[in-house]
Amino acid sequence: MGTGKAREGPVISAHARVVLFGEHAVVFGRPALAIAIEHAVVAKSVEYTTQGIEISVEPWGLQAEEGVAGPVGEALRRISAGVPGTGGVRLRAFARIPPGAGLGSSAALATLIAKVLAERRGVSLDESGLRRVVHQAEKVFHGNPSGLDGAASVRGGICLFKRLGADDEGLGHVDNLALKLPRLVVGFSGITKMTAALVERVRSQYETNHVTLERALDAIEGCLQTGLEAWRSWNLERLGEAMNENHRILQQLGVSCESLDRMVVLALEAGALGAKMTGAGGGGCVIALAPQRERSVIATWQKAGFFMFTMMLGHANAH
Ligand code: PMV
Repeated sequence: MGTGKAREGPVISAHARVVLFGEHAVVFGRPALAIAIEHAVVAKSVEYTTQGIEISVEPWGLQAEEGVAGPVGEALRRISAGVPGTGGVRLRAFARIPPGAGLGSSAALATLIAKVLAERRGVSLDESGLRRVVHQAEKVFHGNPSGLDGAASVRGGICLFKRLGADDEGLGHVDNLALKLPRLVVGFSGITKMTAALVERVRSQYETNHVTLERALDAIEGCLQTGLEAWRSWNLERLGEAMNENHRILQQLGVSCESLDRMVVLALEAGALGAKMTGAGGGGCVIALAPQRERSVIATWQKAGFFMFTMMLGHANAH
């Protein structure tokens, strides 16, 4: 039910992210390094209603309402329950990333909705409050989210994140690193993935062979440490090698897929110093570090049929 009041004021937005190092390992309390895709989802218009949340996200073809059956309705119900006060919203959002592509789109959208709703209800949610609400929504899609996506979507910037425990309510430790961003190319395989199933696949490996899995987690953490050191000293060759190594370990864990592996090989053939899948895997995106070769990486991907979505992140010529 509408009250007829449209919101005015500064644009509200939230961030998505790529994971440079540490996806999956972060679920087990290892560190991860994420780079925000700033303002990836934006509120285009907000109408105040008496109750409930209604959303539409144009390029995703998503339309949903709080309380309707299904995961999105349930996530909206949790966001509504987590934001104190009364009053509803009808939100039209715009997203500049695809959904289900390993870019943290669900956390970005949950953050946006929680911010809009908090404003509508006249409450101010601090960072922890916001991350807590987003975490509840993320549980619907991810089962056992690490909290990395919520942290990155609320904080933005470069996030070095570590979960504090399985029951930390999404409030893992985050450091925002003040580092110059190297340019990164992001490309979508065109395959959307199911995060919960992939996280579960790694968890069951932990159950059956936890020694091997711990070794893989150590190795991923090693990639992050080496990569971060290389980044700080602007040794891009070494940073790229660490990305390649992180991808190899994810392949061994069985969370990559043919398309992602192919995109990684294509990026390296086109001159990238490093490339890896980002996010849960099984589809989704690849990121590549290819100084001065970014356009040839994109062209190579597109020629091979991976043309649905590409973008560049980084300090120069980002678009
Ligand atoms: O693919 P996404 O965007 O859902 O990212 C999942 C990242 C994981 O590390 C695999 C899970 C998590 O909760 O951190």
